[in-house]
Amino acid sequence: MKSFLTVRRLKIAAVVAVFAGLFGLFLLLGPPHLLAKSESPDFCAMCHVMEAEHTAFMHSGAHRRNGCNDCHLPNNNVALHYIWKSIDGLKDVIFFYSGHVPNRIKLSEHGATVVKANCIRCHSELVSQMDTSRNCWSCHRRVTHTGAGSIETR
Ligand code: HEC
Ligand code: HEC
Ligand code: HEC
Ligand code: HEC
Repeated sequence: MKSFLTVRRLKIAAVVAVFAGLFGLFLLLGPPHLLAKSESPDFCAMCHVMEAEHTAFMHSGAHRRNGCNDCHLPNNNVALHYIWKSIDGLKDVIFFYSGHVPNRIKLSEHGATVVKANCIRCHSELVSQMDTSRNCWSCHRRVTHTGAGSIETR
């Protein structure tokens, strides 16, 4: 999205940084089981429930046992996992409740970096013999949500 001004992005980033800490603390110290719940696909589906591709995805393929965060948050380091959980989670909440939900939600550049690192983390043995400069899902279309099952319209 080129129209998204950089200054505005920076402002959003600053606000997010401040509130992410508070949000993280809320997850940790807030209502019991909130943290555990926020790791489950059902939690994510509260807001992404209309994304038919996620349902399709969770019901097909080798990764349906994985939680969303096995792919969508850093998993090499516990601290980084929760820091990004706070930031990404809060960003989603802000976009959602401020009505800034894009027509078509797309994986951000940062999001793609995180997902790719997770593909490599779980498939390290195989990947060690591979060219990792491309995104894994440029070839493995089936791991994307839209390519997962009945929905291949995009
Ligand atoms: C409060 C509602 C809400 C919840 C709960 C929610 N999301 Fe989101 N999510 C959104 C909205 C709105 C967007 C679009 C805004 C954007 O693209 O930044 C989004 C965008 C995304 C994106 C694409 C943008 C990016 O940063 O790469 C990913 C991936 C994502 N969500 C994953 C998750 C996962 C995983 C969970 C569960 C841990 C989750 N979401 C829970 C509302 C939500
Ligand atoms: C096996 C790894 C994996 C798992 C598990 C996974 N995703 Fe994704 N996700 C991806 C990939 C890869 C993309 C990028 C697809 C693309 O760019 O075409 C993506 C993209 C997204 C997007 C951006 C919109 C889109 O459809 O491209 C959202 C939102 C999202 N995922 C949410 C979730 C939620 C919610 C869950 C749990 C129900 C989940 N993901 C589980 C790999 C995964
Ligand atoms: C949490 C660990 C984990 C993550 C993260 C993960 N995978 Fe997998 N993947 C598995 C397991 C387990 C299997 C099934 C056993 C096998 O074939 O090794 C599998 C199977 C596969 C297969 C073969 C079966 C099929 O559905 O085609 C491909 C290709 C694949 N993964 C690619 C990816 C890509 C690309 C990503 C990143 C978007 C990814 N994986 C992320 C654990 C993971
Ligand atoms: C240039 C295209 C391409 C890219 C990029 C690519 N792969 Fe593959 N991959 C293949 C092909 C072709 C096969 C063998 C045919 C098959 O099983 O799908 C394969 C096989 C695999 C398998 C074994 C599938 C099985 O059925 O057991 C896994 C797991 C896998 N790739 C993971 C990854 C991961 C993780 C990445 C990113 C680091 C990646 N691939 C990047 C083309 C690619």
